[in-house]
Amino acid sequence: MHRKKIRTLVLVGGFMAGGFLFGSTASAEGPTAAMLANTCAGCHGTNGVSGGPAMPSIAGFPATYFKAIMKEFKDGTRPSTIMGRLAKGYSDEEIALIADFFAKTKWSSANGHANSKNATVVDTALAAKGKKLATDSKCDKCHEDDGVFQDEDTPRVAGQWLDYLIIKMRDYRNPDMKVPQQKKMETAMEKLSLDDLLAVAHFYASNKK
Ligand code: HEC
Ligand code: HEC
Repeated sequence: MHRKKIRTLVLVGGFMAGGFLFGSTASAEGPTAAMLANTCAGCHGTNGVSGGPAMPSIAGFPATYFKAIMKEFKDGTRPSTIMGRLAKGYSDEEIALIADFFAKTKWSSANGHANSKNATVVDTALAAKGKKLATDSKCDKCHEDDGVFQDEDTPRVAGQWLDYLIIKMRDYRNPDMKVPQQKKMETAMEKLSLDDLLAVAHFYASNKK
């Protein structure tokens, strides 16, 4: 289930960020990773911990996964409302810098952190139903450890914002959206009703680990 390996980009000093003005904080070397990542904070929260509820947290994403999806946003192979246009403003080198920055930030589960007052309340009965569905549908073969697991292909789903999980799963299930995804996941999700997916979303969102 490995993605095509993305070429490791050699960073050449002195590049400029297209389309963004950094004012007096910009050094002659071009923007730093922190400056670039700062432009994401308005939506994804400080250091990638989103204030929710429909905006995904991106803290601690493995850099390879991060770069792969940013590239897909940029070339239009991954559908998006905002990210496609936004990603086009960054060079591959800048995306690599941003990916490394967020890979070092710390994940904080939506229901456990300071912004959790914004969280859609997780229904414990639905979450219990969702836990069983995730096992029966073999979601846990890839999203191991109740969704905490992540690697270069697989994002962490545990503790992600509930509303975002629901939106994302509906997108995966919509053939017109053509969201890049694993065949096994597509088949498993097709078999679940929308009510089932809602339950699975409550299960993953409820995991605060
Ligand atoms: C104006 C709001 C906004 C800004 C600014 C923004 N994003 Fe996003 N981001 C979104 C939305 C909305 C989505 C969901 C996909 C979509 O519809 O575009 C998303 C999705 C993502 C995802 C996918 C998350 C997942 O779980 O699949 C990544 C990675 C990401 N953004 C990275 C970034 C980075 C890096 C920046 C800064 C360079 C940034 N975003 C700036 C709104 C924003
Ligand atoms: C074969 C491995 C595999 C299986 C089985 C699988 N997934 Fe996934 N899942 C992935 C991968 C890989 C991604 C990243 C897909 C992408 O690029 O958008 C993902 C992404 C997701 C996301 C989006 C997370 C985010 O932040 O964007 C959700 C939600 C999800 N899966 C739920 C499920 C559910 C529910 C099931 C069972 C019905 C399931 N998955 C089965 C591998 C799998």
